[in-house]
Amino acid sequence: MSGERGAPLIQRIAAAAGSAFTELSRPDYGDRHRDLLALVTAVRAADLNIDAREHSPAESPPVTYMHICETEAFSMGVFLMGPGASMPLHDHPGMNGMLKVLYGKVCISCYDKLEMNLAPPPQFEPPVTPLQTPFLRRSVLRSVAEFSGDCGPCLLTPVQDNLHQISAVEGPAAFLDILAPPYDPGEGRDCHYYRVLQVAPGDGATDGTSAGEHQGGASAVTWLLEIPQPEEFWCGGEPYPGPPIAF
Ligand SMILES: [Fe+2]
Repeated sequence: MSGERGAPLIQRIAAAAGSAFTELSRPDYGDRHRDLLALVTAVRAADLNIDAREHSPAESPPVTYMHICETEAFSMGVFLMGPGASMPLHDHPGMNGMLKVLYGKVCISCYDKLEMNLAPPPQFEPPVTPLQTPFLRRSVLRSVAEFSGDCGPCLLTPVQDNLHQISAVEGPAAFLDILAPPYDPGEGRDCHYYRVLQVAPGDGATDGTSAGEHQGGASAVTWLLEIPQPEEFWCGGEPYPGPPIAF
């Protein structure tokens, strides 16, 4: 895969991602990851021949995916979000990720999963049924932040910021999404969706055992309920219009 300086930026990103996310145990992983980060930080919508667009919520899917490429090491594509669109809280089990806004602005809430069974679940409002109890997940909210095209990428790893919810802010938005390795249900890397549960008043859960960097104060356990893909969320598809990736 060509990563030469004269190659299109997205080609160089693909080459750098292939290098960074292959043989993660190699000692120069940090250098390769930094090289990829610098390239992804520089990418803009024009590099992918993508124009900012006005979506029609009545006619368009709330979210559209443009597939760019996929290898055993990583997948890369672009998500287009209509005004007010939101990707439900979901995870990326065992995966690393980079999310770089191309146009518009998104709000990203990031969570970490916590070890199970360190504390009994509190009371929830509305209550959780016995059938739902096996799908309770302990987590901690690590950050809530807005990203625009001038921001660096939002990063995730298998253990940090691995769950996120992404919402378009003030109009349509698009972002480049790199996941390494790609989703693969056969390898235990399926996507799961979650709903944040409300803890009943006076029964808040705190967690002195986790060191999450929750904005605005101490880490607070957030209980999530694993749910099927929400009906209001669906993702369309569209061809990627940018420079082709050569392998
Ligand atoms: Fe995601």
